[in-house]
Amino acid sequence: MRVLGLLFLLCSLTEAGVSVSQRRKVVQSVNIRRNASSDSTPLQVGNGNFAFGADVTGLQTFKPYGILSSWCWHNFSLPTTINQTSVDDYTGVQWWTHGRLVTYAQPNPAQDDISTWLIKNPKRVNIGNVGFTFGRDNVIEADLKQKTQLLDLWSGKLSSSFVFNGSAVEVETSVDPDSDTVGISVESSLLKSGLGLFFDFPFPDNNKFNAPFVGVFNATSEHSTSLERISAHSATIKHSLGQTTYFTTITWEGGGTVSGPAAGTHRYFFTGSSSRLQLNVAFSPSPPPKVRGLLKVARASREWWESFWAAGAFIDLSAVKAENATELQRRIIVSQYLLAVNSASNNPPQESGLVNNGWYGKFHLEMNIWNSLPFARWGHFPLLWRSLPDMYSRFLQSSLDRARFQGYEGARWSKMTDPTGRSAPGEINSLLIWQQPHPMYFAEIEYRSFPNATTLSRWDKILTVTADFMASFAFFNTTTGVYDLGPPIYPVSENTNPNVTLNPTFELAYWRFGLDVATRWKTRQGLSVPTTWTTVRDKLAPLPVVDGTYAVYEGIRGMWTDNATTNDHPAMAGIYGLLPPPASGPPLDEAVLRKTAGKIKELWALEESYGWDFSMLAMNSLRLGDVEQAVEYLLHPIFQFDDAGYPVGGSRVPTPYFPNAASLLLATAMMAGGWDGAEGKHFPKGWDVEVEGFLPAM
Ligand SMILES: *[C@@H]1O[C@H](CO)[C@@H](O)[C@H](O)[C@H]1NC(C)=O
Ligand SMILES: *[C@@H]1O[C@H](CO)[C@@H](O)[C@H](O)[C@H]1NC(C)=O
Ligand SMILES: *[C@@H]1O[C@H](CO)[C@@H](O)[C@H](O)[C@H]1NC(C)=O
Ligand SMILES: *[C@@H]1O[C@H](CO)[C@@H](O)[C@H](O)[C@H]1NC(C)=O
Ligand SMILES: *[C@@H]1O[C@H](CO)[C@@H](O)[C@H](O)[C@H]1NC(C)=O
Ligand SMILES: *[C@@H]1O[C@H](CO)[C@@H](O)[C@H](O)[C@H]1NC(C)=O
Ligand SMILES: *[C@@H]1O[C@H](CO)[C@@H](O)[C@H](O)[C@H]1NC(C)=O
Ligand SMILES: *[C@@H]1O[C@H](CO)[C@@H](O)[C@H](O)[C@H]1NC(C)=O
Ligand SMILES: *[C@@H]1O[C@H](CO)[C@@H](O)[C@H](O)[C@H]1NC(C)=O
Ligand SMILES: *[C@@H]1O[C@H](CO)[C@@H](O)[C@H](O)[C@H]1NC(C)=O
Repeated sequence: MRVLGLLFLLCSLTEAGVSVSQRRKVVQSVNIRRNASSDSTPLQVGNGNFAFGADVTGLQTFKPYGILSSWCWHNFSLPTTINQTSVDDYTGVQWWTHGRLVTYAQPNPAQDDISTWLIKNPKRVNIGNVGFTFGRDNVIEADLKQKTQLLDLWSGKLSSSFVFNGSAVEVETSVDPDSDTVGISVESSLLKSGLGLFFDFPFPDNNKFNAPFVGVFNATSEHSTSLERISAHSATIKHSLGQTTYFTTITWEGGGTVSGPAAGTHRYFFTGSSSRLQLNVAFSPSPPPKVRGLLKVARASREWWESFWAAGAFIDLSAVKAENATELQRRIIVSQYLLAVNSASNNPPQESGLVNNGWYGKFHLEMNIWNSLPFARWGHFPLLWRSLPDMYSRFLQSSLDRARFQGYEGARWSKMTDPTGRSAPGEINSLLIWQQPHPMYFAEIEYRSFPNATTLSRWDKILTVTADFMASFAFFNTTTGVYDLGPPIYPVSENTNPNVTLNPTFELAYWRFGLDVATRWKTRQGLSVPTTWTTVRDKLAPLPVVDGTYAVYEGIRGMWTDNATTNDHPAMAGIYGLLPPPASGPPLDEAVLRKTAGKIKELWALEESYGWDFSMLAMNSLRLGDVEQAVEYLLHPIFQFDDAGYPVGGSRVPTPYFPNAASLLLATAMMAGGWDGAEGKHFPKGWDVEVEGFLPAM
């Protein structure tokens, strides 16, 4: 690795690089322009832990897009059903597992109320809405003329303008990189005659998906707001929803006043007195200290974004005169912007980011490999380090408890999770296993960039307890003399019968990968390697092969002949793409890999798949040497990004679904930096591409 790192350094010294001015040109070439609100996606400004989604006015005047954060969550009240009034009453269910009863966090039919409560709570809160008031009621978007909007990705500034009643209104919106503050500036003579702002506060609803909007504005009696503090240049509104309380502090320059709420609502108003308004809206879980002066949000935002784009890796496709290169460039740039806004958070990112709520706003640890890894592969480690490895330390105790309770060693990481680390009850949630080796992937990628003792020690404990679990989870089959994975388990494709799912291809390969990394980690530190790790690794069941292809799992019926087997995630492609070839044990069979890729291309129901499948298949195509096929997958008609670059959810989930964007960045990072044994660029013939700052993938 050291040698590789050194080689890379030498390469980067001789690499032409992409100058800051060229980066700026490329980034701004895909700036977002709109002249009407979208019905499905906002335009966003944000900082990874806080994001503001705007309609065509630059605020939330006509469309109640969200203001979401990583800290504001809400519980509905616990059930009052006897024996189901506390989370400690919940027992889960027991399933036979290799001859013993194991308790899984699944909905318990005898405890329906508390099971359901645990699935739905806590829920991420939309912390408010900010919009224009026009001095009269019932103004609609069509009343605004000459609407134009530009989101400048280089500076994180959203500029919006429109004409109302013959007068122009210019709006600029940006978010502070270091606090949950949106800065708004407005210029218009109308500010002296009726144009003002409103602030409103919704109440959560109970739905699993809240898209495109989060929360309801008419459940007024369920929550309360009050104007806590008001001075010449600031006002603070307190919002209480059950146990959740937070504060909205509005600060402005010049004359103005905040009033409200309007009767029967939680709507407050700002009225100014000059034609130029500078106003900040800051959200905080505790009362903010007294404000001194107005934070210069737009400047802080510009400086942060400029340094973001100037640092990190870069792919410049601007010299390629092909429509598909232009589209790829757009996706690459906008995906980086949107992931920094939505996914660079203290918690693992949500698939819907901070745009709306998928799965109640809870996050999924198996998706974290897609959602977070791009920050590492694109040279933005500080953004990755906001949540890693800290998240694993925060969830360590509950994961140790989960494993011990089930009779395993080490730590069993949860799947669908909230900031408490609790596992949302669910059959799939409790039986999915591919999130377990993720710490090894993250740690190894970090080590390739930072091969030092700090990296080794900060991941050591996490890798140890993870490998301990993985080794003890594998079941020694005395008939076959190998270690099996499952049953019961769910593989990456969540559509099999868990009771017969045995030795899925991807999970077996990933278990080997994880135990290999854990072993190497100890060796690098001069520590002894627990023999259980190597024993299990060296006797793992072989990858299941059916008709010369890697099968979803061992013993699957009708592989390639029953359309139920060619659905959901084609994870077999992930063993030679997302994962490197095995460092131990038998090598992959290239003929089998090729035939598997061919069958997937021919038979898989891609119209039913999730977008990251396309990137996973692209990574597989790259390793198989078919760059054109990789590009074809990345630009597949079903793999869509909307006009503002949001990855479209497709047939399975609402928009946005950020793993699509994140996975695209992992695939394109492989195109730019290659992989071990095939370092360097892998673009279609004739594409003249400049790249800078990529390490090869593993
Ligand atoms: C609004 O945007 C659409 C799509 O970009 C464009 O076709 C249309 O001409 C624009 N209309 C105005 C009035 O700018
Ligand atoms: C929701 O309730 C659970 C269980 O009591 C608790 O652990 C968690 O901290 C609560 N979250 C919020 C936001 O109140
Ligand atoms: C429910 O709680 C009552 C009183 O706490 C107890 O007597 C009873 O056994 C409990 N029932 C079940 C099914 O746990
Ligand atoms: C799997 O087994 C469990 C009990 O161990 C049972 O409740 C469940 O219905 C079974 N699922 C299927 C799909 O057979
Ligand atoms: C529109 O502007 C005119 C003056 O230019 C003013 O008299 C009228 O009240 C305004 N109407 C609205 C709805 O603001
Ligand atoms: C709020 O509005 C929704 C949608 O219009 C409606 O279904 C619901 O009944 C309303 N709730 C209340 C409390 O008015
Ligand atoms: C060691 O790696 C860490 C990341 O794990 C990095 O922050 C630090 O700068 C590195 N130290 C040296 C001396 O390279
Ligand atoms: C051992 O492996 C065979 C073949 O994979 C399988 O049919 C059998 O169920 C396994 N035995 C146990 C106890 O899991
Ligand atoms: C499989 O094919 C049958 C018959 O064409 C169809 O009805 C069914 O929906 C398909 N199932 C899946 C999972 O695609
Ligand atoms: C790029 O687009 C052109 C024209 O649409 C197409 O013929 C070509 O195959 C594409 N190239 C790749 C690598 O996808």
